[in-house]
Amino acid sequence: MKSVVVRSVSKLWGEARAVDDVSFEVEQGTLAVLLGPSGCGKSTTLRMIAGLDEPTSGSIEIAGKDVSGLTGSSRGVAMVFQSYALFPHLTVADNITFGLSVRGTPKPEMAARLDKVAALLGLEPLLRRKPSQLSGGQQQRVALGRALIAEAPVCLLDEPLSNLDAQLRQELRHEIRALQQRLGVTMVYVTHDQTEAMSMADRIILMRGGKIEQNGTPADLYERPANIFTARFIGGAPMSFLDLDDGAGGAVIAGTSSPPLFAGPGKGRVLGLRPEDIAVDDAHKSGLLHATVTGVEYLGAEALVTCALGDRSILARTRGAAAPAIGAQVSLSWHPSAAHVFDAASGKRLTIDSHAATPTPRLHTLHYQGSINA
Ligand SMILES: Nc1ncnc2c1ncn2[C@@H]1O[C@H](COP(=O)(O)OP(=O)(O)O)[C@@H](O)[C@H]1O
Ligand SMILES: [Mg+2]
Repeated sequence: MKSVVVRSVSKLWGEARAVDDVSFEVEQGTLAVLLGPSGCGKSTTLRMIAGLDEPTSGSIEIAGKDVSGLTGSSRGVAMVFQSYALFPHLTVADNITFGLSVRGTPKPEMAARLDKVAALLGLEPLLRRKPSQLSGGQQQRVALGRALIAEAPVCLLDEPLSNLDAQLRQELRHEIRALQQRLGVTMVYVTHDQTEAMSMADRIILMRGGKIEQNGTPADLYERPANIFTARFIGGAPMSFLDLDDGAGGAVIAGTSSPPLFAGPGKGRVLGLRPEDIAVDDAHKSGLLHATVTGVEYLGAEALVTCALGDRSILARTRGAAAPAIGAQVSLSWHPSAAHVFDAASGKRLTIDSHAATPTPRLHTLHYQGSINA
């Protein structure tokens, strides 16, 4: 069942389109992430689902019902903000139950629900404290508790972890995801952090400039980015983009002596490669792409290696202990399925038949070295 349906929603602030004809659906009991750079319209979209802003056009349904004109609690949504927005003069317990007491919930019911939420979030020892006596992570747990106690079927979270340090963010994102699955609530979670999105989401809705660039599972966005924007945004270390050109045996990397990558034209096309998909061989080998190491960023378990290919550069990832030295002559290769090809003008992904390329038999037997020849 669809829990949230956003249908052709736009929001104009004066002339500016903060959200531009956005449509998506969220299945009940799943976690959808609205992801994208600052200013792309994530919060505006979330606030319209919450009923804090009304769309300029389009409609929103929650649990099958058009909710235009309804307030948040009558829509069945609860919201968690980045700024925890706790009342400084109230205890943790009173902060969590504030909404219930405003609505006149009977005391015994309120106490029972508080116990449950406090246990879920590990807040029992803190219930008598004031917000100023809590760490940032504890304050965010209280804010989360205040949303969960509403027992709304849909929980909306706007960058809830942005004010926390990296370690705490990682802990809390696991915790939020586990809670969401345990309680079976639908969550719409806003973040600009692709790692957070990738690790938490059932579906990611990636936005730019008020529009959706791609809507899919984390694996869809990583493995089959629909366009250059998505390819750039998703992934730990950045994908390298290289212009292609027409070569004698097929498409080649422009400005290099690259072997043909696949049959067909290269001009007007861009090759995208993720650092983790590139194998670095520590010598110039015939039939492979030759490069010179110009930079090494050592990160312990792994190293990011910048390689010059003519006047272009490409980023590869190796094991930390296997990182080549700066100045080393290396050969680069990758599996054909790791090559992402885009139209240079539109940025859209192109489907390339990598098996149609000119074969180089010697390399066929080598794992990870297909795309040069396959
Ligand atoms: N209340 C407002 N009045 C005018 N412009 C706004 C308002 N809220 C947001 N905007 C603009 O709408 C665009 C989208 O903002 P927002 O949804 O907050 O982006 P995000 O949450 O993705 O960073 C931005 O250009 C922002 O400046
Ligand atoms: Mg925002």
